[in-house]
Amino acid sequence: MSLSLAQQLSEAASFIRTRYPYQVETGVVLGSGLGHFTKDMEEVVSIPYADIPHFPISTVAGHSGALLLGKMGGKRVAVLSGRFHYYEGYTPGQVVFPIRVLRKLGVGTLLISNAAGGMNAGFRVGDLMLIRDHISFFIVNPLIGPNDSDLGTRFPDMSQPYDKDLQRLVHSIAREKGISLKEGVYCGVTGPTFETRAEYKLLHLLGGDAVGMSTVQEVIAAVHVGMRVMAMSVITDMGIREEENTITHQEVLQAAAEAEPKLTALFVGVLQAL
Ligand code: HPA
Repeated sequence: MSLSLAQQLSEAASFIRTRYPYQVETGVVLGSGLGHFTKDMEEVVSIPYADIPHFPISTVAGHSGALLLGKMGGKRVAVLSGRFHYYEGYTPGQVVFPIRVLRKLGVGTLLISNAAGGMNAGFRVGDLMLIRDHISFFIVNPLIGPNDSDLGTRFPDMSQPYDKDLQRLVHSIAREKGISLKEGVYCGVTGPTFETRAEYKLLHLLGGDAVGMSTVQEVIAAVHVGMRVMAMSVITDMGIREEENTITHQEVLQAAAEAEPKLTALFVGVLQAL
């Protein structure tokens, strides 16, 4: 007999607690090319996703696929190093399973990063964009299906998925550290194709400043379970350049890696301030 979602979450969380028995209040999701964040963590316990009951397994290059628990910025954190994308063929429920496990572990605040294509003409490759809001394009909502009311309500409010106080905090940390920080609306698409020129133009016309293939489903699941969310995009390519241009995954990873120290500095600043 297959286990209910609640039972799967319990088994995953119980297993993790046997390996790391401390209370963890903050979770971090690392996007493409942003996995080095974990090198400054202390007292780390690393659990490969494959070892955690019911966890999906990460397949994409640039995602190592482990849950790291330890200290960063003086706080205990649970870091999802490697995420599950809808385009890999995972169900929306699998994509958000790790987020729900974090909640089960007691995580109340979630810091998310991703690589995204810039559409706002004021952006440049390597910029950081704090996500103020998002638009989901053709993404299957991960809450479709029976609602587990122990997780959250059937019809979650999405008027403010990204916590205002956390946004203010990030802006003030960026000012303090002299890191230039853009802000904008993230468009979530399925991928795995990058956008056509016409699609970039359309998404921008509809209010998007950046576009990427992750985050939206995770944020929906996090809001559903009542987490405070902060999310940030590293702009790895510009989708509205007039000249001929192509994008490769390699270029995305490279640009993300180059911008990573700034992103890490901001995330550590938030952890210290929490
Ligand atoms: N489009 C979609 N996803 C992305 C992009 C992009 O231009 N860059 C990085 N992830």
